[in-house]
Amino acid sequence: MSTTNAAASEQYDYDIIKKFSIMAVVWAVVGMFVGVYIASELAWPFLNFDSPYFSFGRFRPVHTGAVIFGFGGSALFATSYYVVQRTCQTRLFAPGLATFTFWGWQAIIVLAAASYVLGYSQGREYAEMEWPIDLLIEIVWVSYLAIYVGTLMKRKQAHIYVANWFYLGFILATALLHTFNNLAVPVNLFSMKSYSLFSGTQDAMVQWWYGHNAVGFFLTAAFLGMMYYFVPKHAGRPIYSYRLSIVHFWALSFMYMWVGTHHLHWTALPDWASTLGATFSIMLLLPSWGGMINGIMTLSGAWDKLRTDPIMRFMIVALSFYGMSTFEGPLMSLKDVNALSHYTDWTVGHVHSGALGWV
Ligand code: HEM
Ligand code: HEM
Repeated sequence: MSTTNAAASEQYDYDIIKKFSIMAVVWAVVGMFVGVYIASELAWPFLNFDSPYFSFGRFRPVHTGAVIFGFGGSALFATSYYVVQRTCQTRLFAPGLATFTFWGWQAIIVLAAASYVLGYSQGREYAEMEWPIDLLIEIVWVSYLAIYVGTLMKRKQAHIYVANWFYLGFILATALLHTFNNLAVPVNLFSMKSYSLFSGTQDAMVQWWYGHNAVGFFLTAAFLGMMYYFVPKHAGRPIYSYRLSIVHFWALSFMYMWVGTHHLHWTALPDWASTLGATFSIMLLLPSWGGMINGIMTLSGAWDKLRTDPIMRFMIVALSFYGMSTFEGPLMSLKDVNALSHYTDWTVGHVHSGALGWV
């Protein structure tokens, strides 16, 4: 037994995966603790202590940054490095660079949180980091891309399993979104302040093109990569329909890119742009549910596991929440429904059914 374990750990780089997994748990605890704190500030405003450093406005991005990028991001680094090695039957390309992505990513989360508390923010939701941190993200992310593509290129297995498509789609899309949304000119080299290259409506559209795709690729496509590897593996069954998973991937990647404007209904945006976002959001229901059904149906023939296996139960509940939030989202993207839901806690509820239920 111990010989098998030693051989397995020699075959793959597990150390980096352990490090990212531990930090995913650490950031989940920190991020959700801050979530509880800001929720308490809404209920008991004295918790702001009349100090800018404790204010809801500064702590809110600390919460979103810690849970999305700290917890979600670390979990994605960990699982993508695991899945790519196992499905390609090869070790990571450039393990030294992988260690750099670990320390770089953790530094980014800490620097971002510290800068928000100190009052530095670009005011772009989920991209509040100021330009020096954005540059560091760019470097770490390009390294991540190089490691992922490098590992795929040296694979010993001819076929590229579909989970890798989702992870690679997420890495490429995030690189594109991060770069364009953060095009800005710093006031000077020694100032944290910078000004966006875009202005007015265009600025808002670029921001929400980024914002929704952060949801679409960071919190959805990449977690689907996780689902396509771990659900069949844990159920001990092949994926219900491989063909559906490929359609799911292309339809999702294409459609997500167009829906950002549903965040800007009833604003200065041209009406056609709003309608376009709503139309693509409705269409997005199809691939989303295709993916959910694909995951759930993978259990056919192994439903009894739900009675005894708590991990399987978590997986099925997560898939059900994925289905529910991708049903609710298209509904909220309709202009008339959005007129009711926007600026209410309905949006926050939708966010957390996806974030806590699915992610
Ligand atoms: C203990 C668990 C959590 C609590 C108590 C909590 C609490 C909160 C609170 C109070 C807000 C601000 C709502 C407002 O502005 O009115 C918020 C926003 C947000 N949270 Fe959480 N949260 C938790 C877990 C998570 C997790 C795990 C994620 C993601 C993986 C997440 C993602 C977000 C996002 C994206 C927003 C911004 C929502 C928006 O702008 O509409 N939260 N959370
Ligand atoms: C077909 C899929 C989905 C569609 C069409 C969709 C659509 C929407 C719509 C219309 C809003 C409200 C915009 C507003 O009034 O400002 C929204 C907000 C949001 N959704 Fe979804 N949603 C989908 C799935 C998801 C999933 C799976 C998650 C999380 C894993 C998620 C996370 C969020 C977040 C974080 C926001 C808040 C953005 C903000 O204002 O800060 N969505 N979504």
